[in-house]
Parts: sequence; C-alpha cells; structure tokens
Amino acid sequence: MKVISISKVKDYKEKDIQVNGWVYSIRRSGKIGFLSIRDGSGILQCIVEKASVGDELFDLFKSLTQESSLTVFGKIVENPRAVGGYELLLSQLKVHQLTSNYPISPKEHGPDFLMNHRHLWLRSKRQHAILRVRHEIVKSIRNFFDENDFTLVDTPIFTPNSAEGTSTLFETDYFDTKAYLCQTGQLYGEASAMAFGKHYNFGPCFRAEKSKTRRHLTEFWMVEPEIAYCEIKENMDWAEKLLIYIVKNVLSNKLEELKTLGRDLEKLKVCTSSFPRVSYSECIEILNKSGNNIKWGEDFGSPEETFIAEQYEKPVIVYGFPSKIKAFYMKRDPENDKVVLGMDILAPEGYGEIVGGSERETDLNILLERIEEEKLDKSDYEWFLDLRKFGSVPHSGFGMGLERVVAWICGLSHIRETIPFARTMTRLNP
Ligand code: 4AD
Ligand code: MG
Repeated sequence: MKVISISKVKDYKEKDIQVNGWVYSIRRSGKIGFLSIRDGSGILQCIVEKASVGDELFDLFKSLTQESSLTVFGKIVENPRAVGGYELLLSQLKVHQLTSNYPISPKEHGPDFLMNHRHLWLRSKRQHAILRVRHEIVKSIRNFFDENDFTLVDTPIFTPNSAEGTSTLFETDYFDTKAYLCQTGQLYGEASAMAFGKHYNFGPCFRAEKSKTRRHLTEFWMVEPEIAYCEIKENMDWAEKLLIYIVKNVLSNKLEELKTLGRDLEKLKVCTSSFPRVSYSECIEILNKSGNNIKWGEDFGSPEETFIAEQYEKPVIVYGFPSKIKAFYMKRDPENDKVVLGMDILAPEGYGEIVGGSERETDLNILLERIEEEKLDKSDYEWFLDLRKFGSVPHSGFGMGLERVVAWICGLSHIRETIPFARTMTRLNP
C-alpha cells in the first residue's frame, strides 16, 4: 500500500492507502472509534468500526494515547463533516510506540511550562500554524529578492566589528583574541553591493538585549538587502514592495493557518497597497499635540512607536531621524546635517519596528569622525573604509526582522512563539 501525506488524501478517494503519523485525539461512541492522526501535513480522522476490524484491533485502538506513533491502513472516503472533507475507514493499525504521560494536554498551560516543553509544543496546532506561516514568509523573502535580481551573499557570524552599538554585543573568545557575534551583516553587505550591485543576506543575528520585552530576542533572523546606486526614497520603495509581497503571499497560501490563529484578515488585507511616509519631525509634532511629551532629538520608546503606528492602518515609514540617535554609517541629510537619511517601518497594531534602514554615508571624513565619536576602534573598520576609497557610490539598504514580521502577520502577543527555539535573556533551553 502507498504511504500518503494527509494533505494529499483527497487524491485517493475510494483507494486503500497507508498514513504514518501520531495520535492527535481519540473518541469513542459505543462500537465506533474516532481516531484523529496528524502527520505534519494535516489531520485525518480515521473511523474504527468494531464490527469490521474485530475485537483485537478494536482493543488496540482503545489502548492508544495522545502522541503515540502509528501507521494506519484503510480506504479514503468523502465525508463533508470531517476536517478536510475526507476520512479513512481503518482496516489495519500498526503501533510504533505507545506514549504514556505526554506532558502537554489539551488543558491550559502557562507560557513558562510551554516554553520549557518547546520541543514537544511544536506539535500543537497553533505552533504548527505559526511556523508554517514563518516558512511562507521566508520563502516569499527569497523569491522576492531572487525575482528582482538580487544575489544572496552570506555574511559572517564571527566579526571584529560592532555596527549597531557596543552595548548589545555578544563577545566570545577567538583563539588569542576576541570576536563578536554579528549584530547585522550590513557592513559586509555593503562590500557585496559594490561587487554585485544588488545584494542580500539572510541569516541569524545576535544581540545581548538585556531587557525582557515582547519584541526582543537575543538570536533573531534578519534579511538585509544592500543596493548600489540607490538613494533613500528608492530604498523605502524596496522595503514597501517586499512587505506587500509577503503579506499577499501569506494571504493566498496560508489562509488556513491564519484562520487557525484567529487572525483578523481584514487588518492584513489593507496592508497590500502603498504605505504612509512621515518624517521624524512630524511624529514629534503629532506626539506633542496629543500630550506625549517628547523633545526633538529624543529617541522613540515603545509607547511613542505604538502611538505613531496607531495613527495608521498600514505599516508607516518614518524617516529623517536626528543623527545623534542613529548608527554611525547613516548618511547625513545634505540639507540638514542634524538629520540622517534613515528610515524605520513601524507595523500596525502595536507590533513596533519591523524594518530599519538608511542611505549610507559615503564621505570618508564624516565616517571617520563618526567612528571616533562612537569610540570605535578605527583599525577594525579599515576594510570598510576601503569601500569609500575605491569606487564609492550612493547606496542604501535595510534590515527586516523576520520574527517581528511573523508576530505581526500571525497577530501574536509575544515574539517567543515566532521562532522554533527562542533565545532570550532568560532562556537558552531547550
Ligand atoms: O534597526 P536595526 O538595528 O538595523 C540594522 O541592524 C541595520 N544594520 C539593518 C540594515 O540596514 N541592513 O535592525 C533591523 C531590524 C529591526 O527593525 C527589527 O525588526 C529587527 O531587526 N530586530 C530585532 N528583532 C528581534 N529581536 C531583536 N533583539 C531585534 N533587534 C532588531
Ligand atoms: Mg532600528
């Protein structure tokens, strides 16, 4: 008999097949048993009729427990009331392992308990749906850049440099010297953009975030395009196009998963056309008019970010930040050197910053000045400064945090569920 994935059973109507999986739930009504099994691709209801399978097999069915591993054999029939519209009339059953005391039951568990059992929790319907949406987002990101002629160039994880402030660096021994885990691949992305024109890197980044928030992980994934001959406005266009592409793909390919998560689809559908753009200075005005006291020059905290985002139904692009609060590599606005050509995209519904990017400073002297101001060791940046000496061009890029986007698209209240095995200040296990 052919082994079939549950997602494909509809192609096997009235055929005898075999499915490998795990017990999802068991119910019995007199001499009829209902055995739901999952195989990772879906859930299938199997009908176990005592009269047709005999006493011995029926007893075996009765002994089954949640998450026991098994193979079922039988005929696929149509049943509009069953999940997926099909069920299996069981004729044979092979148990690989009878599980006892599976710790995660359908009753409510606290988040700590569930995170401690993350290796098992991944099997539950909701976690499964989230990670399938994550998969779709990853696929969309790759397709988007590949279709637009970007070249994927991987950037290193061990680095001598800091790019996003020294306070969140993870330091590690590196033979007789020190190395840091990358906070971003950007500086290498800039080298690659000068070689390939349109570059992207996509991989894990590390930041020693010493705060417990719903938005921060210490290990997260970031996709970072870097584009030669690209100014800030075009950079915003790319980020906007990418996000719209992702939302559209998830809406068309992962609708079932979004429904499982109870996501309000209308809130996502409005995010499939162009986004509002507003300057930092306008934001300061909006904030002060509504009683949020903030002075020009101060960075937004999470309440300010949320307030700004709440003014719009779609992601909002904020640009023109004070240079003092942004990274050393951002280009000064030629018309106002107190401001940099940076941009952040804030997701709606309180999900915070999902994208951070900028046009890059090309002036060697300004860069040297900024490196000094930030008390960075110039010798670690010599190679980076070479990029400004040999064929320097206007260029821009951004970083999009994968987990923040997953949290927003799935409508999750906490970032810990967006990644298979979350790493935070208080969690390194499992
Ligand atoms: O704004 P950030 O710090 O920008 C950079 O790292 C740039 N070098 C990117 C570039 O221009 N190539 O980070 C970019 C994004 C944030 O907007 C956020 O979505 C995500 O990365 N991010 C985090 N996500 C989860 N946990 C954290 N601790 C994060 N820190 C940043
Ligand atoms: Mg940022």
